[in-house]
Amino acid sequence: MSGPRDARPPRGRWTAPAIVELKRRGELIAVATAYDFPTARLADEAGVEVLLVGDSLGTVVLGYESTLPVTMADMLHHVKAVVRARPAALVVADMPFMSYQASVEEAVRNAGRLVQEGGADAIKLEGGERVAPAVRRIVEIGIPVMGHLGLTPQSVLAFGGYKVQGKGEGEAERLIGEARWLEQCGCFSMVLEGIPAALGEAVARAVGIPTIGIGAGAGCDGQVLVSHDLLGLTQGRVPKFVRRYADLSGTMRDAFARYVADVKARRFPADEESY
Ligand code: KIV
Repeated sequence: MSGPRDARPPRGRWTAPAIVELKRRGELIAVATAYDFPTARLADEAGVEVLLVGDSLGTVVLGYESTLPVTMADMLHHVKAVVRARPAALVVADMPFMSYQASVEEAVRNAGRLVQEGGADAIKLEGGERVAPAVRRIVEIGIPVMGHLGLTPQSVLAFGGYKVQGKGEGEAERLIGEARWLEQCGCFSMVLEGIPAALGEAVARAVGIPTIGIGAGAGCDGQVLVSHDLLGLTQGRVPKFVRRYADLSGTMRDAFARYVADVKARRFPADEESY
């Protein structure tokens, strides 16, 4: 029987070309977000092929209401922690809002920082044709780029909320065109977020690079979930596409409550837990 470790590439670490090859071989790709050393280790041991240090960091770890306040300093801090886990998985670092929109030069410099200072293997940025010049330059200098289309959270103000994108024939055609743009610009893969399942499948068929879906149906070449969502650490309502594989909120709340009760009742520490 094959275990999770068998999913690792034969010569150690996943690379961007090896991820592209998975689509050619018809193998589905498992991506999860990670923002810290222990989570990166555990997800990597479980056989996740790509660890995304997403700017979802802002909402699930830093307590912001959106990803917009996340800075390059925040991203670098967490990318470094994930890289220190020395995962076999490819580490993809998200470019935060305003780190690539103002100019191509700024985009290249910040992508370079995530790789040179942070130790990331690749970067991700949101958008299609409008970010094409930046994508092309970043790829030219040798940094693998993951695109991101559909419900791109950094555009939440323009969208007027977190709303499903690509509805209707015209919108779907436009999104397929954007996906082709990203492939032509040299992206090695792209995230498709919050679009109808039929469109997710159509994009996967339209491009040769892997499409990684989140709320984009089962027809994508891989799936990504925010680790706090899949682990049940997110408080309150989660989107419909999330599947919870654990209830860590319940486990942690219970553990903290038992600890508090033990301290108050002088049951902790016991003699054998003291010097
Ligand atoms: O920031 C993030 O975690 C992401 C994923 C949801 C794709 O962009």
